[in-house]
Amino acid sequence: MLESEWRRYLDANPDHWWREGVLYQIYPRSFADSDGDGVGDLRGIVEKLDHLSWLGIDGIWLNPTMASPNQDWGYDVVDYCSVHPEVGTMEDLDLLIHKASERGIRVLLDLVPNHTSDRHAWFSDARSSRQARHRDWYVWADPKPDGSPPNNWRSAFGGPAWTLEDTTQQYYLHNFLATMPDLNWWNSEVRETFEEIQRFWYDRGVAGFRIDVAHGIVKDRELRDNPPATESDHWTIRREGQQPIYNFNRPEVHDVLRDWRRLADSQEPSRVLVGETFVLDLDTLATYYGVKDELHLAFNFPFIFADFESSQLRRIVRKVEELLAEPAWPVYAGSNHDQGRLASRWGGGGEPGTRCALMMLLTLRGTPFLYYGDEIGLPEVAVAPDQVQDEVGRRAMAAHGEARPGRDPERTPMHWNAAPGAGFTQPEARPWLPLGNYRACNVADQQHGDSLLTFTRDLIALRRAERELRTGAYQELPSPEGTWAWARGDHLLIALNLSGQDSEIDAAGQVLIGTRRDREGEKVAERLRLAPWEGAVIARA
Ligand code: GLC
Repeated sequence: MLESEWRRYLDANPDHWWREGVLYQIYPRSFADSDGDGVGDLRGIVEKLDHLSWLGIDGIWLNPTMASPNQDWGYDVVDYCSVHPEVGTMEDLDLLIHKASERGIRVLLDLVPNHTSDRHAWFSDARSSRQARHRDWYVWADPKPDGSPPNNWRSAFGGPAWTLEDTTQQYYLHNFLATMPDLNWWNSEVRETFEEIQRFWYDRGVAGFRIDVAHGIVKDRELRDNPPATESDHWTIRREGQQPIYNFNRPEVHDVLRDWRRLADSQEPSRVLVGETFVLDLDTLATYYGVKDELHLAFNFPFIFADFESSQLRRIVRKVEELLAEPAWPVYAGSNHDQGRLASRWGGGGEPGTRCALMMLLTLRGTPFLYYGDEIGLPEVAVAPDQVQDEVGRRAMAAHGEARPGRDPERTPMHWNAAPGAGFTQPEARPWLPLGNYRACNVADQQHGDSLLTFTRDLIALRRAERELRTGAYQELPSPEGTWAWARGDHLLIALNLSGQDSEIDAAGQVLIGTRRDREGEKVAERLRLAPWEGAVIARA
């Protein structure tokens, strides 16, 4: 489909762009630095829009852009209707929305409703006295008789989820850092304020939000103790020693999401809500879609956490298909700013493995989210202990007395070219996180010929060209161990060999795109031979 036809098609069908398009996550500090201070910024993103449009991206999600003391790099907000001066100004954001829209690219912001920064004016007021105007906007509770915290909840970043406020002698809740107090979502003013914040941004033209900790904002009203973790719990739960059933994933969170969905749907054009739904079972994940009245898209963490292994992935997708039948719409990602990069985690087969991962993301039924750098196979970058910026990394280092990377390795700057500064920043500037081996992996060198980048672009173009790749039903097909094959609609078949052995899959037709590009156009009579870590999309005969 020509670019202009594609744009007309999406404009005529306002909620197809986030179902059929490809979305792209940008960590603004690490994408492109326009002013040479070593930190990426909004003007830098504007300068790189041509890359995104050439790649075929329909929407971008920006990690937090709002004013913040950066204890958690923007996830600790001090003003929800502002732009952090380090990444630019409100005019820059307006410009980005405008320039992106000229290219048919929508902009999603990151909304952080679970907590604010402790330096937010609401919290400064709230902590000042028990009678303060904003006291009830946060979660306060008395110490136990022995002075200890009100219950056993643990912060997702380790340690107790409560800190004693000296002035008023009550504890406040923080599911993350102590500098990030949790808001009290039982308070109706908090609810109203966040609807106003959303309207503020909708009026500026944002296409929607990625909602931080979307499953966790409402807490158990009685602040009951969490039960202990069990052997069969996921490692992220065993790590904290308790099942976070009372401080996350409460039933009442769905009421809030329903209100937000109504607000998003009432906009002209309607907007989209993508949730960071960090739940570890798919049945629970499915509840966040409601009956088409909660989140439009709910990130699938069981999928992100899966090994790049056919039986695990197949099982997850089978269940997603059962639970998220139309009109619910799955979403798939292999990298993000918290969980590592697909080229490192899933690229077990090196570049061929990374190609298989990209082929999978771009051909399953659902919306793919690429993380900046996925398209060139940017790997995680080693960060020396004295360069660690992530508080989670610092804490782990302090606790274990050894270098633990935290989340910095997946947040390092984009590599645009092979020159000093990698085209991310000026040659003499010091990037806020180290660059990786940009001479070996960068956009400029992959712009032509058979590269991961051209492969990704061509896969996205194929998605646009083949309606069934976007909307066709998923049907799993029988295939040998270590491989995974599925049909999309009546005419397309995708086959991946995620093993180190040669394999053969029943298929007849013609190769539309292969991880080995020299196979394109090949006719397949009955069986498709696949080398280790090889995949293909086939037009079925
Ligand atoms: C989410 C964000 C993460 C942040 C945390 C606290 O999980 O993705 O980066 O640290 O929320 O806001």
